[in-house]
Amino acid sequence: MKGIILAGGTGSRLFPLTLVASKQLQPVYDKPMVYYPLATLIENGIRELCLISTPQDLPRFQQLLGDGTAWGISIEYREQARPAGIAQAFLIADSFIGNDSVALILGDNVFYGGDEFHGAFAELEKGAVIFGCHVNDPERYGVVEFDGAGRALSIQEKPAQPRSNYAVPGLYLYDNQVVGIARNLKPSARGELEITDVNVEYLRRGELRVRRLNRGFAWLDAGTSSSLHEASAYVQTIEKRQGIKIGCPEEAALLRGFLDIAALAMLVEKMPNCEYRQYLFDVVGEARRLEKER
Ligand code: TTP
Repeated sequence: MKGIILAGGTGSRLFPLTLVASKQLQPVYDKPMVYYPLATLIENGIRELCLISTPQDLPRFQQLLGDGTAWGISIEYREQARPAGIAQAFLIADSFIGNDSVALILGDNVFYGGDEFHGAFAELEKGAVIFGCHVNDPERYGVVEFDGAGRALSIQEKPAQPRSNYAVPGLYLYDNQVVGIARNLKPSARGELEITDVNVEYLRRGELRVRRLNRGFAWLDAGTSSSLHEASAYVQTIEKRQGIKIGCPEEAALLRGFLDIAALAMLVEKMPNCEYRQYLFDVVGEARRLEKER
């Protein structure tokens, strides 16, 4: 399975922060926002990635993440000329996807906790898997309605009268049909190729599975000044209390076996003295200890 990080958009709700740096490069507590979705994909075994952003912001992402070799992954870059909708990602990354299945994640979505994603990534063979997460303000998102047996009945984009409190977060898993489906989409009233229309088409084909994210799972969307601040506060609280980091691509790559301990140790050596370096230094120490015990 390939992975796409969609990190374009206008970020207008974060003005003036986004005047010179895109939303997904802003800090969520101690690291750039894009580290979180990137780490989520790596944690779930995605090694071949494509990042899509605006022509203006793309060079910054390249500077930050490089071609991925240092982390044992590969990252390609593609431009989205203007924000014409989330589903346009499949057209832009068509040649990258090839004949593979694909996971699309939004560059401003932060996920933490539980192992609901692992099963979903492992199980996808045919069709699509998306998620449903209970929120207070479902009208801001795609909203999924379930029947008594937990099957999805409908999905509506930003409905004025939501039929449930289950919003669809920004991580979507699709088989290769998604490219053809995206090609046949018509722009919505707001002029965008809607990801909800992709999901509705899979639902119509009887090939959509919606997995509910249980209590204990956190989904943060860092698109407004308050939600950005809340995401930072959340990450800081967990990291301080538990002594672990959320959204650390190097650690995720080590755990997945994309990077070996020696390669991570070399990366750590090149980092300036900071909390992030100290954390990874300890991760290397612990990995060495565990290896010896084995
Ligand atoms: P939004 O938060 O809905 O839009 P935005 O980032 O442009 O922000 P604002 O509403 O404040 O102007 O987008 C969700 C995510 O999807 C975000 O990470 C940006 C990304 N995105 C694209 O990269 N291209 C697109 O065409 C769209 C619609 C969104």
